[in-house]
Amino acid sequence: MKTLKIADGIYMLTLNVEDILFEGIWEIRNGVTLNSYLVQGEKTALIDGVIGWDGVPETLYKNLEEIGIDPKEVDYLVLNHMEPDHSGWISNFKKIKDDITIVCTDKAARMVESFYGRDNVRIVKEGDTLDLGKGKVLSFHPVPNVHWPETMYTYERSTKTLFSCDMFGAFGVMTDHYFDDELTPEEIDFFELEGIRYYSNILTTYTPSVRKAIEKAKTFEINIIAPGHGPVYRKNPEKIIDDYYRFSLYAKGAGKDEVTILWGSMYGMTAKAVEYIEKILQREGVKYNKIEMPKETISEMIATVFRSAGIVIAAPTYEYKLFPPIATALNELGRKRITGKLAFRFGSYGWSGGAERELHEIMERNKMQWDLIESVEFEGTPREDDLKKIEARVLELIDKMKEKVVEEGQLA
Ligand code: FEO
Repeated sequence: MKTLKIADGIYMLTLNVEDILFEGIWEIRNGVTLNSYLVQGEKTALIDGVIGWDGVPETLYKNLEEIGIDPKEVDYLVLNHMEPDHSGWISNFKKIKDDITIVCTDKAARMVESFYGRDNVRIVKEGDTLDLGKGKVLSFHPVPNVHWPETMYTYERSTKTLFSCDMFGAFGVMTDHYFDDELTPEEIDFFELEGIRYYSNILTTYTPSVRKAIEKAKTFEINIIAPGHGPVYRKNPEKIIDDYYRFSLYAKGAGKDEVTILWGSMYGMTAKAVEYIEKILQREGVKYNKIEMPKETISEMIATVFRSAGIVIAAPTYEYKLFPPIATALNELGRKRITGKLAFRFGSYGWSGGAERELHEIMERNKMQWDLIESVEFEGTPREDDLKKIEARVLELIDKMKEKVVEEGQLA
């Protein structure tokens, strides 16, 4: 764990976590940071909490001591969000100081009781304040359903710091650089993709609520955005707000200027056509990603499809339906409410189709409203005329996806 001063009287305590399934589901190949913050006036508040994934908060206590704070002197625990990556240390903290006051929304208060058996809670509503003394005043601003119902922002007035918890967060561990102005160009690219991974895996289902939270963030005068995961933004906090807005557009069909081939093949027939379209995409100078299911993780599949303006679905018929790993992937994209994507499907069948019917069933059941270019199905291996049809549809996709492209900086 590392401790950094982010403003006068405000510290970040950050911990890198790797080799876990986030939320017990999501493979995070580049890890994640858990950030908590300490605000010191005459009284001291700890905002969101960091513990080891094993639930042991001793490192947090040690780091508090390094900045001259005895854990027993912490007066308030501010809970922006109850998900245990931010709140899991409460039970242990009780052993240190039983009468600590937990500050949270009414919805969180109920969870504090049911998760941790606690009731010494101070419930806050929109605009309520907590004066810590020495000029440090916290105000509280619910942003419900990001991505749980009880979530809120905490804002410190004197330093104009927004503690945003999951909002404006990113996966990816931090090593030497913790602030936006310290990041190298490679690290900026890294956190762009890890921000997309975070948004698409964790928040995208709640995009309408995230949009409201973006609008609320814009009502504050902000010098620093201090999220619960990923870098702190102090040079240009507007950038991460704009990025999050852009990600919210990706959830509704926009994307970067790239194609993702979401594919699976039983015996290589569909794979032949995948190889063929790769040559077309290379010839046309189109950036593309390949996601082969079921070899790739659902987490990476969602993140990659989410950020792409054009999708090629390459999947054969299996048992009169869509190749199951691709059906699973599309259902997961539907559950995440990733709508409006431009897509083209092709695939092989042995003696009868069926994949196409299930593709449409998945789209309708999940109300995905994807813009589907007419599919191409071929019996057995793709012949010359099948490949010509596929080429024409891929060119149509490349042409149409121009309307879907929203790149970084385009919205500023
Ligand atoms: Fe970082 Fe929703 O927890």
